[in-house]
Amino acid sequence: MIEKILVLGGKGGVGKSSISAATAVLLSDLLPEKKLLLISFDMAHNLSDLLSKDIGNTITPITSNLWAIEPDANVYAEIYTKDLVNKMKTLMKQMPLVGRIPQIEEFIDTTFTSDSIPLALKNAMFFQKILDAEDNNSQDLQFDIIIADFPPTANMITLFEIPEDQVKVVLKYSLNFYNSIKGAMQNFSKMFRQLFKPFDDDYEKRKELGKDIFNMMVALENRGERISELIHTVGSLRLVSIAEKPSFEEVKRARDLTNRYINLDAIHINMIIPKKHAKKCDFCGQISSIQQRYLVEIKSEFKNEKIWESNRLKEEPIGLEGLKNLAKEIYNDASASDILNPKA
Ligand SMILES: Nc1ncnc2c1ncn2[C@@H]1O[C@H](COP(=O)(O)OP(=O)(O)O)[C@@H](O)[C@H]1O
Ligand SMILES: [Mg+2]
Repeated sequence: MIEKILVLGGKGGVGKSSISAATAVLLSDLLPEKKLLLISFDMAHNLSDLLSKDIGNTITPITSNLWAIEPDANVYAEIYTKDLVNKMKTLMKQMPLVGRIPQIEEFIDTTFTSDSIPLALKNAMFFQKILDAEDNNSQDLQFDIIIADFPPTANMITLFEIPEDQVKVVLKYSLNFYNSIKGAMQNFSKMFRQLFKPFDDDYEKRKELGKDIFNMMVALENRGERISELIHTVGSLRLVSIAEKPSFEEVKRARDLTNRYINLDAIHINMIIPKKHAKKCDFCGQISSIQQRYLVEIKSEFKNEKIWESNRLKEEPIGLEGLKNLAKEIYNDASASDILNPKA
């Protein structure tokens, strides 16, 4: 059962991926009895770099109870469209007359391609694989906690808009397409029913196939709604900022744009220059005083949220050890439940 979906968002370069990975590695340590999955939803995947391991589009083991994936969203959209296209072609070919139009296959192939599916929906199709696994009880795909590394705000929003808009766009598109073909078929069959029906053994089979196609589309809509529901109930947004104006502004925008979809539970302020170093050089001191100003502003803007502060580390937080260091820097000795439910 998915208990929690942690979603990390914010401007590019502020440390979203690093904090996602560090959080995942720490939670896997603190919760050995849980299964965790770290997912990158950013097209520019970089979990492989951070974890020093080739991940790609397969669920790859990281620790004994943590896996990671950089899903290739196109793969899942291709599977969906191929299935739909094949069913439509089969249906067409079984039509006494339409099936004989030589261009019909080409028409289907070129009209319904995975390119016409928005990225958000492609990602949702991947996400659905995880949900399907719960339904089918397939153990190797079932996770308790999901940590999702999201792309910068604009793209993040399109991921949340799946249920409200995107599914409907694709659905409407598929339905129009389906209906126009079905309409043509019905006209033909009306004209030729008397002629063909007595000989048409495949009529029932065709009806079934038609239902099948329709169900695939309805399933797509239900899936979108289910993901939305899940994000509403177990989703927990954490916005990452550095102590500078542009990323602070971005975090405020992200909060306003996402609050209909997901609960904001915490703010990360990352890459802070430690005060003791600020005293060592003028340059560091100047940057530090700007940062201290924004720290105050961010904290007052988000006074109802948990604030996790983390200093800029001397070493890049890379590999399991590096990520554990970053996690320690962020969470100190916080417990797993403090991390999962910081507002409780
Ligand atoms: N607290 C930190 N201290 C030092 N380097 C950091 C810290 N957080 C992130 N980094 C480094 O900053 C760079 C950007 O981080 P990344 O997690 O890829 O950001 P994002 O996912 O937001 O684009 C990476 O090179 C990462 O190793
Ligand atoms: Mg990233």
